Amino acid sequence: MITTLLTVIGALSVLSWLYENLRNPVVLLIHRFKVTRENSLAQKYGEWAVITGGSDGIGKAYAHYLAQKGMKVLLVARNAVKLTKVSQEINEKYGVDCRYAVADFSKGEQIFPQLEKELAPYDIGILVNNVGVINEKPILLERMDKALLWNLININVGAATLLCNIVIPKMKSNKRGLIVNISSMSALAPTPYLNVYAATKAYMTSFSHALHEELKPYGIECQTVSPGFVHTSMTEYLAPTEGSQAPLSRRLLKVNDFIRYAGYTLGKVSTTCGHWSHGIQVGFLKMLPETLRLRIFTRMYTQLLSEFSEP
Ligand SMILES: NC(=O)c1ccc[n+]([C@@H]2O[C@H](COP(=O)([O-])OP(=O)(O)OC[C@H]3O[C@@H](n4cnc5c(N)ncnc54)[C@H](OP(=O)(O)O)[C@@H]3O)[C@@H](O)[C@H]2O)c1
Repeated sequence: MITTLLTVIGALSVLSWLYENLRNPVVLLIHRFKVTRENSLAQKYGEWAVITGGSDGIGKAYAHYLAQKGMKVLLVARNAVKLTKVSQEINEKYGVDCRYAVADFSKGEQIFPQLEKELAPYDIGILVNNVGVINEKPILLERMDKALLWNLININVGAATLLCNIVIPKMKSNKRGLIVNISSMSALAPTPYLNVYAATKAYMTSFSHALHEELKPYGIECQTVSPGFVHTSMTEYLAPTEGSQAPLSRRLLKVNDFIRYAGYTLGKVSTTCGHWSHGIQVGFLKMLPETLRLRIFTRMYTQLLSEFSEP
């Protein structure tokens, strides 16, 4: 009797793990071998892609990818000089219309009426909610600057939430659209010394999964992307420097490698890590019970804290 029960529990656990972790790779493989021609992203969703935090790192990579696929691109970020440079670069490289809107999401709710006005004329097919900030290095909560704590919530949580509120009505009336929400692998378990950042990403994952279900009946897709370490200015402190090689530096993925895979998943799967190597890491982590995952994250970030924190 006990053996049968354990066999059933074992079989169910294996099946649910396989379903959870192999479903997307299988769907992506099927797409790879499809012979029918698919509509372009602009035909499928609408001609403009709006990317928050599109002037650097992962957001800039999405901007290049979508422009290369023929979409018109509108970047939203804070620094007008950087925005001008990136939009000119995209325009010259791909010959598509690339514009920008300056907005500082750390200012909170007050910036959204103006941003809504600026976005109103565009047929927004794809919204990439990418903007995000992080404490520069792992740090104890009580040592964190209050302004940064507030920014983490305003930027990482507030921007995506309000922008979805702004774009969804028009997407619903067009009966098409794709919202891409950038979460993080750190949403997988609470992360000591990066606790607020990881909590904002857990919000993004929960918010995005719920929105996916809410929007499905209206023909609108919502994708949650949860990358591991990607080499951008956010993770620059982990990069190898002359004479020292932080242990995690080997795991930093080049942003170009990330976008090659993350871009391919657009419109095909509703959840992804963006890159297969991060998918494998998540697959292993998901074999473990939550308490053990928390232990692993605690160990990793305690090590980073001792390596990088100021005395
Ligand atoms: N890098 C990773 O390893 C990693 C892993 C998992 C998830 N993620 C997530 O991926 C997203 C992008 O990260 P990233 O590494 O590409 O970051 P990044 O290289 O630091 O780029 C951040 C972008 O956000 C903009 N931005 C920052 N603060 C802003 C503000 N207050 N208002 C408007 N725009 C602002 C920046 O523009 P300005 O220069 O104009 O401020 C820049 O374009 C984030 O949500 C992050 O949490 C990253």
